[in-house]
Amino acid sequence: MKKLIIANWKMNPTRGLDARKLFKSVNTIASKLKNVETVICPPLVYLESLGELVTNRACVLGSQDAFWEHAGPFTGQVSADMIFGTKARYVIVGHSERRALGETDSDINKKIKSILQFPLIPVLCVGEISRDDDHQFVKLVKNQIRLALVDLTDEEISRVVIAYEPVWAIGSKAKKACEPADCREMSHIIKTVLADLSNSEITKNIPILYGGSVNSENSESYLKDGLVDGLLVGRASLDGKEFIKILKIAEKS
Ligand code: 13P
Repeated sequence: MKKLIIANWKMNPTRGLDARKLFKSVNTIASKLKNVETVICPPLVYLESLGELVTNRACVLGSQDAFWEHAGPFTGQVSADMIFGTKARYVIVGHSERRALGETDSDINKKIKSILQFPLIPVLCVGEISRDDDHQFVKLVKNQIRLALVDLTDEEISRVVIAYEPVWAIGSKAKKACEPADCREMSHIIKTVLADLSNSEITKNIPILYGGSVNSENSESYLKDGLVDGLLVGRASLDGKEFIKILKIAEKS
């Protein structure tokens, strides 16, 4: 399986011109890699314009969210249908920064169902805010997955990507990085939840990603020892040179 490296640009950069520059510099390298699929998730306003710069399937676009209705009186929302129209292929859903704004597990479930009505791949983000000695955080992550995937068929579940993003390891305020061994343990737990949810063998191939303070120094350790198929990169994806380093590491891992 190719490594899946997803850039979550969040609410950056401020100008479309800079978005195009950054995408071009990454695409020059990413589009040539054989063992890596790169996905750039810019703010929605840039999707259409960056779509013109996509050269091949090795480096594609994704959205950071999608609303569950197709169209209608939903001020400020953008549907999966519209995102599909921009040629994006992936949609991040349930990111902790959206959950912090009030997004619920039931909202996330509705979003995934609407995304799956198109040839789009939902990237479901799960992760605990903090860890506790009683391991309640494991229950929480398991529940996030179960609730997000309620009423999905085996075939639908098999099209989902799961990103484990412990909230305590995300962003410049992160207290510490997640150890690859902890990532490995959670990845194993996620695989067990997926196997329990579906009788089908196909869930075995669901890619699991790690995200949270990933950079060129630690990316190899997650890919080698973290039992993951790829990475979801925030800050480090805004620096073209740094992100390209991560892609090259993934190409060799
Ligand atoms: P950072 O890489 O900036 O910690 O962000 C991770 C993240 O939230 C990616 O979705």
